[in-house]
Amino acid sequence: MRHSHLKSFAQKQCAEGVSVGSVHLRQPVLTASGTAGHSTELNHYFNMSQIGATVAKSLFATPWPGNPAPRVHPTPAGMINAVGLQGPGMAEWIANGLPECEKHGVTVVASIWGRTVEEYRQAAEMLAPHVQRIAALEVNLSCPNLEGRGGIIAHDAEMSASVIAACAVADVPLWAKLSPNTDRLITIAESVVEAGAESLTLTNTLLGMLLNTDTAQPVLGNGGGGVSGRAMFPVALRAVFDVRKAMPHIPIVGVGGIASGNDAIAMMQAGAHAVQVGTASFARPDAAMKVLNEMHAWVRKQGVSRWSEITNAAHRS
Ligand SMILES: Cc1cc2nc3c(=O)[nH]c(=O)nc-3n(C[C@H](O)[C@H](O)[C@H](O)COP(=O)(O)O)c2cc1C
Repeated sequence: MRHSHLKSFAQKQCAEGVSVGSVHLRQPVLTASGTAGHSTELNHYFNMSQIGATVAKSLFATPWPGNPAPRVHPTPAGMINAVGLQGPGMAEWIANGLPECEKHGVTVVASIWGRTVEEYRQAAEMLAPHVQRIAALEVNLSCPNLEGRGGIIAHDAEMSASVIAACAVADVPLWAKLSPNTDRLITIAESVVEAGAESLTLTNTLLGMLLNTDTAQPVLGNGGGGVSGRAMFPVALRAVFDVRKAMPHIPIVGVGGIASGNDAIAMMQAGAHAVQVGTASFARPDAAMKVLNEMHAWVRKQGVSRWSEITNAAHRS
């Protein structure tokens, strides 16, 4: 097993870690949900216990088959996916995925999804007896809304709030993961915070599609999918910036297109307390550690001693 370790200066600069609301993390970089498997798959490439946390792939209460193949395809500056939230179900993950993370000392943020308020409640209820074992619960709201005429839950402020309120059955910090595909992002952010979300994860993927010109058919089995990676970095950065401006005190985790320490620093300057690395891991499985090492090089060069000095820097005149 080959691990790239944090250099020794990482112990001295910003040694206190970061706070995302009430959640303390040893480092400001996490792996993004759905891009690091359900457990410690990436531990083969770097020591996952040295990053802030891994966000597990979103789980449904019961096993879920996901979408027909093909499920992923490269785009000019990233990728498009329609994995369709395939997963083993909450019980299986609690029995096997979570203990594997614990065995390796990896901090875990669980993630759940559903199509109705009741489905989210069911998943959160199953997690409730185990909340001491996780740092937070990320609630993936970018899912089909079966109670709202087929839209996306995260585009419906009222429904998003109902989901977050239902997830309070798990007594653990709730991170509401929102969609960038709406001009009502701030309204929705305010609504989920009022309903009990402690932090916001910004953002999920962009709605997109690719066609195969030989067949005139979509390249993905599902038809459309979610665009992620480099192409969406400015979109996610703006989402973080705008929400931070409107909500000066809410903890934010920034995600979308981050592939370097510089990207991560910019996301924090825009308002994030921590960042997640997703698609970059498909090209380079140790991308989260690479980003973290580059961030530490940056803070050392700049003489920054606390991560909190970076967060919101773009809003300070
Ligand atoms: C293959 C794939 C699967 C994903 N699965 C999930 C998921 O299960 N739950 C979730 O909240 N986000 C999921 N995402 C979205 C990512 O967590 C992240 O929000 C998004 O990809 C933007 O970050 P990135 O550009 O660094 O990948 C997935 C993304 C990809 C590429």
